[in-house]
Amino acid sequence: MSLTVLGPLPETADRLDVVSEWRIDDLIDVVGREKEVVEAALAKLDYSRDLRAQLFVPPELTVPATFTGHRVYVCVNQKGGAGKTTTAVELAAAWVAMGYTVRVIDADPQEASLSGVWMLPRFDGIAEKDRHTLTDVLFGRQPLDEATYETSVQGLYIVPSGEELATAEYDPRAARDGSLRTAIRKSKAPVDITIIDAPPALGKLSINGLIAADQVVVPLRVGALDRKALQDLHKTIRRVQEDENPELVVAAAVMTSFDQSKYAGLVGAALRRDFPEAIIAPARRNVQVAAAADFGLPVRALQPKATTTSDYDQLARLLLPVKGAAA
Ligand SMILES: Nc1ncnc2c1ncn2[C@@H]1O[C@H](COP(=O)(O)OP(=O)(O)OP(=O)(O)O)[C@@H](O)[C@H]1O
Ligand SMILES: [Mg+2]
Repeated sequence: MSLTVLGPLPETADRLDVVSEWRIDDLIDVVGREKEVVEAALAKLDYSRDLRAQLFVPPELTVPATFTGHRVYVCVNQKGGAGKTTTAVELAAAWVAMGYTVRVIDADPQEASLSGVWMLPRFDGIAEKDRHTLTDVLFGRQPLDEATYETSVQGLYIVPSGEELATAEYDPRAARDGSLRTAIRKSKAPVDITIIDAPPALGKLSINGLIAADQVVVPLRVGALDRKALQDLHKTIRRVQEDENPELVVAAAVMTSFDQSKYAGLVGAALRRDFPEAIIAPARRNVQVAAAADFGLPVRALQPKATTTSDYDQLARLLLPVKGAAA
C-alpha cells in the first residue's frame, strides 16, 4: 500500500474572514431565553453580513501561537456525531501538511471508530498477537510507543482503540486519572503533536484526555445544539482545569457541518458565552467528509480545496505556525 504525502497547504483556497468583533455576540444574552426574545434579537441581525461563516479570534489571543516542543490536543464533546473524529483527522492532516509529525490517539471504544474504519493502522508484518492498542496502554501492559502505528498518510500515526477499550471505562485497574498523561509524557517517539479523539461520553476516557491535554478543541454540530449537554461539558472542562490540569486551555470550538443560518448564529453565541477564550471556527458542511472515511484518507488528501478542508486548514494555521517558521 502506498503512502500519501500531504502538503504544503494551498495558498489560494477559499478563506473565511477572520473577525475579532462579532455581531452575533449580541445574541449571547438571549441564548436559552423565550422564543420571542430570541426571535427579536435574531431579527436585528443582517443575514448576509452577520450570519455568514466567519472565524472569530478573541482579540487577546496571539495567532499563530508559537510552537515549543510537543503539544497535546483533545477533541471532546459527549454528544455523538459532534464532529470530534472529523476534527481530529482534519487538523492532524493540516498539521502534517505544515511539516509536523502527528499522532492521533483513538480513545473511542465504538467498533466504527477512527482506527476501525477511517485511519487504519498499518500492521505490516506484525503478527496479530503482537499488535497493541490504547487498551494495553491504559491497563499498563504496553508503553504508548508500542501501540503507535503508521497510517496510509506519511507523518500521521495512530494509536488504535481496541475492542476491549470499553472495559477501561469501568475497570478500576485501567485508566486511572492521569494514566494517559503519564503514558504520553513517557513517550520517546519523535512526534510533534498528539491529538486525542475522545468518545461520546464524559467518562473516564474523556477525562483522561482532558487531563493529558495542553489544549482542548470542542467540536459541536450546528443543528444539534443541546444547551444542557454544552453546560455539562463546560462544567467538566472547568472542573479538570481546577483540579487536575490548571494549564489546560480551550483553544477552539468548531461549528461542524456549518451552514449559514440563524440557528448557526445561536450556536456560535452559545459557544462564545461558554468558551470566551476560544477561537470559534466554522467547518462548512461538505459531502466529501463522509466520502473521505470510505477512502481511508483525510478530506485534504482527496480535495485539498474543499470548503471543509480549507476551514480546518485556516484553524490549523491559527493554532500553530508552519513548522520551523517561528521560534
Ligand atoms: N463539515 C462536515 N460536513 C459534512 N459532514 C460532516 C462534517 N463534519 C462531520 N460530518 C459528518 O458528521 C458525522 C459525525 O462526525 P464525526 O464522526 O466526526 O463525529 P464524532 O463526534 O466523532 O462522533 P462520535 O461521537 O460517534 O464519535 C460523520 O458522518 C461525518 O462524516
Ligand atoms: Mg468519533
